[in-house]
Amino acid sequence: MNRADAEVVLGVGGGIAAYKACELLRRLTESGHTVTVVPTASALRFVGEPTWSALSGRPAATEVWESVHEVPHVTIGRRAGLVVVAPATADLLARAAHGLADDLLTNTLLTARCPVLFAPAMHTEMWEHPATRDNVATLRSRGCVVLEPAVGRLTGADTGKGRLPDPEEIFRACRRLLARGVLPADLEGRHVVVSAGGTREPLDPVRFLGNRSSGKQGWALARTAAARGARVTLVAAHAELPDPAGVDVVRVGTAVELHRAVGAAAADADAVVMAAAVADFRPASYATGKIKKQDGRDPEPVSLVRNPDVLAGLGAERPRPGQVVVGFAAETDDPLENGRKKLARKRCDLLVVNEVGERRTFGSEENEAVVLGADGSETPVPYGPKEDLADTVWDLVRDRLAGA
Ligand code: CTP
Repeated sequence: MNRADAEVVLGVGGGIAAYKACELLRRLTESGHTVTVVPTASALRFVGEPTWSALSGRPAATEVWESVHEVPHVTIGRRAGLVVVAPATADLLARAAHGLADDLLTNTLLTARCPVLFAPAMHTEMWEHPATRDNVATLRSRGCVVLEPAVGRLTGADTGKGRLPDPEEIFRACRRLLARGVLPADLEGRHVVVSAGGTREPLDPVRFLGNRSSGKQGWALARTAAARGARVTLVAAHAELPDPAGVDVVRVGTAVELHRAVGAAAADADAVVMAAAVADFRPASYATGKIKKQDGRDPEPVSLVRNPDVLAGLGAERPRPGQVVVGFAAETDDPLENGRKKLARKRCDLLVVNEVGERRTFGSEENEAVVLGADGSETPVPYGPKEDLADTVWDLVRDRLAGA
């Protein structure tokens, strides 16, 4: 089956986050998938059937007693290339873990033989309850993918772990499962640090020196490492992106802050991937008040001082023996030759070389690169989603960790 065209079943549990599943549904249909929505009876109390059928272009049934002649309790699951349940409530996880089949969605979960993804949403206490922990462990042991909930504002005034992961993150997890299936957790037990986004170096309270990094490649690295079982710390400089599911995010502003945060996280890390666009220089001084123009006078020149080179520091010091250090290089001319020199200069194990120029703009969803190894290897990654490049980087990191 061409999995990019696969039929997707969107199971919707009865939680307030059901409205966010509408956004996920849109992303799935807009990317060409036929989606059958199977809401539970309580999901329909939050978002009604007309919304699901209008957005999917197909009827959305809840009970096994509708269209019985089509045997929907068996056919929907069998046809599916992916089943995604969002939001997955504590009750739904429990029913799925115990193999109950008391409505159309739980029947579908029992008949599906394709990858199954759960995106949980519930209050922190429910997520942390031993019953839910056991149910999640059972589902994972059977090969289901259960995303970690996001941390933040919950229904009502409380905050904590339990928010539905951002619909965009769920969509990306779906796309990866459709493309690659359920991968072994080959980074389980590993701690990896990824830096991403662009640093901002302030001149005064309203102005800064920045760059055009979107953070998308670093986010893809964090997301894919988490999906492969790693504990991930994402040191995130400026990027307009939601937190990836199941990742510890440390937000930073300047290169100096990023240096400190990466240093702290790298102390016990098996691998550090520096995908952030770190400013090489910062303004020598910071004006605590807004810099005003003076009539008739030329502006004061901005003088700059050097920032620490975080990657070179990691390459030289190796906070932990056997740690794998990965850098990025954006080059316009002679990318491979310049990349080799940079790899040697910064003493990293792997360097991802991107050719930047007219055709390849910042902020795109795709990337093309060559990964250079300190051992002389060259791994080309053809033009494709940033997750593909991320997975290649993790394959190479895993092999180096195994050989250490
Ligand atoms: N990097 C870093 N600390 C800096 C600058 C860059 O850790 N102060 C890291 C980036 O995260 C990236 C790699 O180094 O992994 C990029 O190298 P860099 O020397 O910044 O590339 P260019 O700026 O392109 O270097 P040059 O101008 O010498 O080509």
